[in-house]
Amino acid sequence: MTTVTEISRLMPNYGVPAIEITRGQGAYLYGSDGKEYLDFTAGIAVCNLGHAHPAITEVISKQAATLLHISNLFAHPERTRLAIRLTQLSGLDQVFFCNSGTEANEAALKLARKYAASRGEADRVELVSLPHGFHGRTLGALSVTPKPAYHEGYRPLLPGCTTPETLEGVVDSISEKTAACILEVIQGEGGVRPLSAELLQAIQARCKETGALLIVDEVQTGVGRTGTFFGYEAVGIQPDIVTMAKGLGNGIPVGAVLARAEVAAAFGPGSHGSTFGGNPLAMAVANEVLNHVTAPGFLAHVREVGAYLEHQLAEHFDAVTGRGLMWGFTVPDAAQFVAAAAKNGLLLTTAGPNRVRMIPPLIIEKAHVDAALEILKQCE
Ligand SMILES: Cc1ncc(COP(=O)(O)O)c(C=O)c1O
Repeated sequence: MTTVTEISRLMPNYGVPAIEITRGQGAYLYGSDGKEYLDFTAGIAVCNLGHAHPAITEVISKQAATLLHISNLFAHPERTRLAIRLTQLSGLDQVFFCNSGTEANEAALKLARKYAASRGEADRVELVSLPHGFHGRTLGALSVTPKPAYHEGYRPLLPGCTTPETLEGVVDSISEKTAACILEVIQGEGGVRPLSAELLQAIQARCKETGALLIVDEVQTGVGRTGTFFGYEAVGIQPDIVTMAKGLGNGIPVGAVLARAEVAAAFGPGSHGSTFGGNPLAMAVANEVLNHVTAPGFLAHVREVGAYLEHQLAEHFDAVTGRGLMWGFTVPDAAQFVAAAAKNGLLLTTAGPNRVRMIPPLIIEKAHVDAALEILKQCE
């Protein structure tokens, strides 16, 4: 076991973890002391196919033995193939690849401003975000993440970013000066809060009316997490820009921004870039992830096991909300609850002081739900 002194060589932004993990298999993780944990965190909604998936391992090994990195100076067939598949899945036209959710959102915000500028709309610079939204930690993404604690010590943030006090205020916050409104259809870090289809459709209508772009952040909800490939498919909206990361690489860092052709055209040569974005390893792995998530029956499995999990949770807990295999519920002290569950062999995450979040690998079966519920009952 790594000692606390060794861990203290890491910057203290995360705090000191109580558990050291050295191995994973399917829906299970194993501590350096050999203890087995049922993993309902999936590396924060990343390892959707579970740990050490043989097909992913094989693709990584093959690609590592063939070609790891070439930069965007050269084309690569896996990049081209992934771009075609993601545009087909989203109904959007073009993609920019990067390495994380924050980077994807940062690129999307830049693209929205660039698009307005390319149309000669010099005043259209505002970015509207939603209360309880989370979009990442770079200065741009942070500026549309309205959690005061995350802003502490980093001000001044990006000018032109507004978040209304209430969800009801979002529609009125969007104007002819808005470059884009960015939102999650289910707010993950904000407590696993699904937004209503009515609100989302009203926001889309207001964006259309004012000429603002609608950016849907699918970093947490995408790649099957909510029982459809993209979360927005369930609520009857069609974004102008979609951002992705997390589950797309099953643990290999990758991010993507998808956009309508007219919008994407604003990113002319030299206007944005990433050394590692679109590298052959990440592209090959993401293509393999898509082979599984888009296979017949996969998303139906997510919906079926998800409905079972919801039903079980609702019998024991308050305010059970979510969709697919992304669920939250309310407890008096989420941190204490998560620590108690871990002691009993179940890994969970918090999503606010009173919210516990369950984001297991999408390959779990009902038996895993039963095992998790047995442990949860001991933590009540
Ligand atoms: C909705 C959403 N957007 C963006 C991010 C940031 O992604 P990353 O941590 O990969 O930069 C997250 C991370 O939790 C997220 O949940």
